[in-house]
Amino acid sequence: MAKHLPTRTMADVKEPLVLFLIGMRINTFWRVWEWLPSFLAMGPMIVELYKNPELGFLSARTEMAGRTITVIQYWKSFEALEAYAANAERKHRPAWTAFYKRATSGTGAVGIFHETYIVRPGEVETLYADMPADFGLGGAVGMKPVTPKTETARERKG
Ligand code: HEM
Repeated sequence: MAKHLPTRTMADVKEPLVLFLIGMRINTFWRVWEWLPSFLAMGPMIVELYKNPELGFLSARTEMAGRTITVIQYWKSFEALEAYAANAERKHRPAWTAFYKRATSGTGAVGIFHETYIVRPGEVETLYADMPADFGLGGAVGMKPVTPKTETARERKG
């Protein structure tokens, strides 16, 4: 059989963008009524964001590990992300208010978190070998082939 040569690509980061990690941790499983509304609030927001690309959202992927669910998101800018979060006409702002209403009358059965990172050209490195073209940061901004000049992580960082 012919030897398989993995297709190696890297993200084509031409301008700054944002990596936004957001998630929830189920602290007390049996208090379903406390954590379920937060769990259910995420899906419609992701649908809204994919339907409205002018909001600056690029893509998202959900990961589950134990009692923690994380949505990995890519955004065009910090300003776009901030504007979406504050926009009373979109799904997030009411969910924000509703969360604190529930939280203050609950027991802390659900935790929420987010982390925001600015990703700048020259300060990021990626490598994808035989991965789908729409995966991760490369999927969000576009992929380009790894060449002899971008063989190592240091070279790919640029
Ligand atoms: C697409 C999904 C989401 C995005 C992009 C998003 C984004 C953000 C951002 C950027 C902030 C900070 C706003 C600021 O301080 O200027 C924020 C705050 C907040 N979000 Fe979300 N969020 C999302 C989903 C959710 C969901 C599903 C909930 C419901 C549980 C939620 C509840 C909150 C709450 C309670 C805060 C305020 C936290 C605090 O400052 O104490 N978010 N969100």
